Amino acid sequence: MSSSTDQHEKSTEVGAVAPDGQLPAAFENPGLAPHRHRLGDSDPKAAKRSERQIVVVFVISILASIGGVVGYFAFPVDGTDVLNVRLSTLVIGLGLGLGMLGIGLAAVQWARALMNDAEKVEDRHPMSAGPTVQQQAFEILRDGGQDANIARRPVLKGAIGGALALAPLTFLVPLIGNLGADWDIGKFARTAWRPVRGGDPERFYQGQYRYLARDPQDTRIRAADVTNNNLVHVIPHGLPEEEHYLEEKAKAVVLLVRVDPALLKESPERESWSYDGIVAYSKICTHVGCPVALYEQQTHHLLCPCHQSTFDITDAAKVVFGPAKRALPQLPIAVDEEGYLYATADFDEPVGPSYWQRER
Ligand code: FES
Repeated sequence: MSSSTDQHEKSTEVGAVAPDGQLPAAFENPGLAPHRHRLGDSDPKAAKRSERQIVVVFVISILASIGGVVGYFAFPVDGTDVLNVRLSTLVIGLGLGLGMLGIGLAAVQWARALMNDAEKVEDRHPMSAGPTVQQQAFEILRDGGQDANIARRPVLKGAIGGALALAPLTFLVPLIGNLGADWDIGKFARTAWRPVRGGDPERFYQGQYRYLARDPQDTRIRAADVTNNNLVHVIPHGLPEEEHYLEEKAKAVVLLVRVDPALLKESPERESWSYDGIVAYSKICTHVGCPVALYEQQTHHLLCPCHQSTFDITDAAKVVFGPAKRALPQLPIAVDEEGYLYATADFDEPVGPSYWQRER
């Protein structure tokens, strides 16, 4: 019968695990599987074919990037044409996506088919960054550069350079193009709800106050049509489809909800801003501007799906959860003699995310 000491000695043989689960002192080196050479390593024609494939993918990337930039200029987004907005987004997105994807795919294929295929073994060693290690790292980098064989492939070199140089243009050109845009931040503080003088009586109550309308039908809304706890998406009635129509519509979107009037916690100055439990708040989240779209009937909370900011509509749409830092701006509303809802003033605050000089 062997002693426990004998058993432990056996377990510390190379690769053996002790009966008590103790790890072995060393593992057997399994060695490397036989190396399988690629066709291109021995056949210059195959290598050339791979190179051509990689160049083609880089050229596709270049064309996609150019297409994205051309699309930016071909479909100007000036707020008047919805089709242009869609096409511009589609073409720039495709250009950027295909440009980057082409670079990625070509780089992978290049590494697989053309770079040096020699296998190397690196022994483990203590982690340190002494001068010797630094020298080794430098040599590895230098060898990697030489392994890439880029110097001997001028066409490939040109294709890589072209693809890498052009891909960033798909987002730099729109960025630079917008630097010259109209950055009048005052326009964020005004929306189509502001009262006007001498307005069309069809669209403005008393020729002054804009009616609330359903989106997209643009039909006016009676207070009686707003049922308890139902969320209604609202736009200004009769917004003219002229220049900056989309911008104006986007800024002015409103969520209308009716709750039990007894639940509303209204400050004295806001008591006249709601009508019989109906409250209207901007639909644009005050965090970074996503559309607030979800309503919890039990809690009377509005929820932004982007980062879960939550606003309590019974308490001036104050933030109860999430990253938003301020309440949703409220639209003061009232009803005319026929029961149609209209806005008595613009939002109490600029809509959307906070920005510098936000105060009116
Ligand atoms: S945009 Fe609404 S929570 Fe971030």
